[in-house]
Amino acid sequence: MEEGAEVRNKQVIFKDYIKGALKESDMYVKTDTTRKLELPEGAEGVLVKNLYLSCDPYMRLLMTKRDTGGVFSSYTPGSPLTGYGVAKVLESGNANFKKGDLVWGPKIPWEEYSIINNTESLFKIEYTDMPLSYYTGILAMPGMTAYAGFFEVCSPKKGEYIFVSAAAGAVGQLVGQFAKWMGCYVVGSAGSEEKYMTHLLITSLGCALEQVKLLKNKLGFDEAFNYKEEQDLDAALKRESTLTLTWRLIVSDRCFPEGIDIYFENVGGKMLDAVLLNMRTHGRIAVCGMVSQYNLDEPEGVRNLMHIVSRRVRIQGFAVFDYYHLYSKYLEFVLPLIREGKITYVEDIVEGLENGPAALVGLLSGRNIGKQVVVVARD
Ligand SMILES: NC(=O)c1ccc[n+]([C@@H]2O[C@H](COP(=O)([O-])OP(=O)(O)OC[C@H]3O[C@@H](n4cnc5c(N)ncnc54)[C@H](OP(=O)(O)O)[C@@H]3O)[C@@H](O)[C@H]2O)c1
Repeated sequence: MEEGAEVRNKQVIFKDYIKGALKESDMYVKTDTTRKLELPEGAEGVLVKNLYLSCDPYMRLLMTKRDTGGVFSSYTPGSPLTGYGVAKVLESGNANFKKGDLVWGPKIPWEEYSIINNTESLFKIEYTDMPLSYYTGILAMPGMTAYAGFFEVCSPKKGEYIFVSAAAGAVGQLVGQFAKWMGCYVVGSAGSEEKYMTHLLITSLGCALEQVKLLKNKLGFDEAFNYKEEQDLDAALKRESTLTLTWRLIVSDRCFPEGIDIYFENVGGKMLDAVLLNMRTHGRIAVCGMVSQYNLDEPEGVRNLMHIVSRRVRIQGFAVFDYYHLYSKYLEFVLPLIREGKITYVEDIVEGLENGPAALVGLLSGRNIGKQVVVVARD
């Protein structure tokens, strides 16, 4: 594209603060905006072409007007959404970046071209032998979240019993694989059969049907279950074998008859209550997020908190941005695992900025399988 040219700059605009579940109509695609492809005189930021955008659950929190605790402020109605993404530098007013650099960072507007003034928040992409989309997931914020949350907050030991909720998502699939890498026993929950993947026996037909699904067969979890099919989450976590609501006998399913040492909390609500009943003495809960609560106007209560005392459980919330100083250490750990095929990363990629709103809505209702990415442009 010629420098200084005026180009179309398609955007996804946030309409207004919302209550309840996010809908596609809470955003709209604006196609009549343009951007001149040059930095203003004296600008110290970078002009970028946006390539990949990340859909992340916290974005829903920014759509309600409230104090989210500081780092990310609520979206401004009438402006583009912002979030994590990957971009290419077209022009730079900053000595740390040059034309052609690839970057990832947290404040990328949902549009085709942007000027980013706050360049301190940008990470330069050094390893371009990896898929660029990985810099919205395994090689960026969700990867760092799984790494810091599991190794720094959970203090795992070989052989421990680990439970991960939203286990097929951007963060959860990595926590499960890191835990297996450490030699732990790992169970994950997810909200659909495609995600939870186990060996199922359809008793009503009287024949065995093995379905190839995600968590067990591709990601190496020891066990997995679909929480939406469970009437009693406490029983699901304890069980050795049971009938699901849809009359399937889970043959090899043993989950946690001896309790859970570490719970990596992604969802909150009823799952947290059930987990508290199953924690072992001196267990740890790393509270990464509570996605089941983000679309609710009133958060659900948690009843089984007394078990924290009797079992001496440590519960610790954490935020990924407190751990970015470990990013190069994380890359040293994870890049060899990816290159040697010891870690898999599942992505759910949609093409086109105009499909971003549907992808974001889908993330908050569990339609994504793996990291939800939106492609704006591939180079
Ligand atoms: N602390 C931090 O710094 C930090 C950083 C990144 C992410 N997070 C948190 O980590 C968690 C996972 O994020 P992610 O990026 O990996 O997202 P993700 O798992 O890729 O996508 C969100 C998933 O949440 C599940 N979900 C949606 N609504 C739900 C509900 N009502 N009840 C239970 N599950 C529901 C869905 O999976 P199912 O099909 O399983 O329902 C959906 O696929 C979120 O809570 C997020 O806020 C925290």
